[in-house]
Amino acid sequence: MNVVLGVTGGIAAYKAAELARALMERGFSVQTVMTAGAQQFVRPLTFAALTGKKVITSLFEGSTGEDVLASSVEHIRVAQENEVLVVAPASADVLAKFAYGLADDFLTTMYLAFTGQVVLAPAMNTSMWNHPATQENIRTLRERGHRIIEPAEGLLACGTTGPGRLPEPELIAEVVASVAANRHDLEGETLLITAGPTQEPLDPVRYISNRSSGKMGYALAEEAVSRGARVILISGPVHLPAPFGAELIRVHTAVEMRQAVMDHLEPATIIVKSAAVADYYRPNAPRQKVKKTPALLSVELEPTPDILAEVGRNKGDRLLIGFAAETQNLTAEARRKCETKNCDMVVANLVTDQSIGFESDLNEVTLVLRNGETIPLERAPKRAVAARIFDAIGKLRLALHATR
Ligand SMILES: Cc1cc2nc3c(=O)[nH]c(=O)nc-3n(C[C@H](O)[C@H](O)[C@H](O)COP(=O)(O)O)c2cc1C
Repeated sequence: MNVVLGVTGGIAAYKAAELARALMERGFSVQTVMTAGAQQFVRPLTFAALTGKKVITSLFEGSTGEDVLASSVEHIRVAQENEVLVVAPASADVLAKFAYGLADDFLTTMYLAFTGQVVLAPAMNTSMWNHPATQENIRTLRERGHRIIEPAEGLLACGTTGPGRLPEPELIAEVVASVAANRHDLEGETLLITAGPTQEPLDPVRYISNRSSGKMGYALAEEAVSRGARVILISGPVHLPAPFGAELIRVHTAVEMRQAVMDHLEPATIIVKSAAVADYYRPNAPRQKVKKTPALLSVELEPTPDILAEVGRNKGDRLLIGFAAETQNLTAEARRKCETKNCDMVVANLVTDQSIGFESDLNEVTLVLRNGETIPLERAPKRAVAARIFDAIGKLRLALHATR
């Protein structure tokens, strides 16, 4: 499979070398195209050495006229010979040029002649990313059917913190692989996915919650949309942008989440319960703020509704996937949950390791199937883990259809 790797003038251009390597490792033949801006940050030689191909750096250089006579104009040839175009990092400038159809260098001209799948990984300063012009261009490119890999949040080279960082090259390579394989294996399915924590009020200004960031559930929703499913995402309070293409329902409490799940159970064919629902809540929480006094305060809590168990009892021939976040006895707990909650699979993760789990962009999980089989997945960005989880769900789905 042939891929064009477009590298543009952003500080993250150095990470594109890692992406070139990750694509080569997945068996892609990689043709690198660098804009003039990109060449200010990294040298073409790096990509030539990694990919074994001459890097294209200019629209006119080397164009002697003979190539035109031989009907092999290079930007048209490259457009025709490659199935996927991935631009990483994609600068604000190149996003604008793609959106408006400007063609003033090799990459933008080739883009207009390109008819394959396009994956864009924007990376820039947070204000540049949030600018209405950039957001409008992103909308246009999404509507054109291009896959946009949202920038990650974190400390940026300009010293500010926020969305704008280029996601891990492994994650981008995984998305390219998924696009190239044209995995549309969830077409016709309706996914009901829960994500994030719930917040249980103690009074009007305080609540009990947990450290779930919702990143895993949102990654699952994005992956399911990209595989052709209708996705209903029921989310607790998180600081994440709505996944493109998913129907997002926001809730706060476990009781609200239960109601939303039950209201949308009917059309669902696959239910993935990745939310970290609070186990206890305070019924009849006071309407006024509780004042501080020297006396000890004790609060009576009641168990919240067990949504997974209730769905398990009513699941019919739907597939039900639960999540287990544990601090010990991971596989045993996941097996117990799979059995008692009538799940088809439980995704188990150990939350004692700070480098994976709740707030991290990475995850490392073990899939525990109903028949007791366990499938450990290696540590990877959450979107890549989501892809592996859906590969496993795909197998369960085939088995289920075979028995119908
Ligand atoms: C030090 C430095 C860092 C930059 N980093 C970025 C960036 O991360 N993202 C971005 O969109 N533009 C960034 N720019 C601005 C682009 O390089 C500029 O818009 C350029 O015209 C992009 O050209 P290209 O998209 O054709 O490669 C940066 C500029 C400088 C001088």
